[in-house]
Amino acid sequence: MSDDLILSLEKSTDEVAWNLYRKAIRFGTWDPAEIDLTHDRDDFEALDQDLKDYLIHFCTGFLDAEENVALKFCPWIMLGASTQQQAFLSTQLLEEFKHTEFFLRYFEEVLGIKRLHGVQNLVQQKLDERGKMMLNALEGSLEERETALVEGLTHYQGIIEGVQAMAGYDVFEDVYGSKGLLPGSKEGFKRIKEDEGRHVGFGLRMLKLLARNEKHANRIREIYSEYLPYILIRYDQPVVVGGREVPTPVEVNGRQRVTKLFERRLKDIFGVRSVS
Ligand SMILES: [Fe+2]
Ligand SMILES: [Fe+2]
Repeated sequence: MSDDLILSLEKSTDEVAWNLYRKAIRFGTWDPAEIDLTHDRDDFEALDQDLKDYLIHFCTGFLDAEENVALKFCPWIMLGASTQQQAFLSTQLLEEFKHTEFFLRYFEEVLGIKRLHGVQNLVQQKLDERGKMMLNALEGSLEERETALVEGLTHYQGIIEGVQAMAGYDVFEDVYGSKGLLPGSKEGFKRIKEDEGRHVGFGLRMLKLLARNEKHANRIREIYSEYLPYILIRYDQPVVVGGREVPTPVEVNGRQRVTKLFERRLKDIFGVRSVS
């Protein structure tokens, strides 16, 4: 992700949104169906049971999250304040479905099982409510629309993508990727991460700009604080696969990773001095 994109406020938001839209059109063209997963199948078979089950748990969490955000994303597009913003956000909708497709393939072709459910993610569960609030705001005043957009961007781009998903890529890399395992996944994550760089880059830049309004700044801080316990629960819950509790690999360090990313995002939005 480009730090410049987040930090620089020289260009107008519409210019940034349009550039990202053009980038998505030109470079976001990878096809989830074309990633070679044959080595991953062999690697998966050779893993010990604990690492196999942890991978199943990990992919369950990712698939649920990608699918959930894809299905609930339309209000974020509708609240975009201009043609340029809505054009960019529409590329994000398609990309979330591509990420979903990649994980659906993974269950079928690598893990060889039907997808599971049951990884608790309260931040994701609250997206339903958030989407409804955003839809209601569409009928409201300009100020109400802007406030709803601030809340939506904080919840989704600022926390789900900017903290939870980013922690997930690093977990995968440290547990599997860095050991030369699962090259198809590694490729998939690389592509997904490029897409997410645009999503998070846009969201944080918008939040940084909107946080110049004190009311919005307070709301952003409130939502981050409200969700911190939910973010931490994600990695503190027991990992259960097929009725068996699976040990978490030492490399995961979930709590530490999400806490660090949480602080990083607040710095991106508010700058060092404003972090409370
Ligand atoms: Fe995604
Ligand atoms: Fe995304």
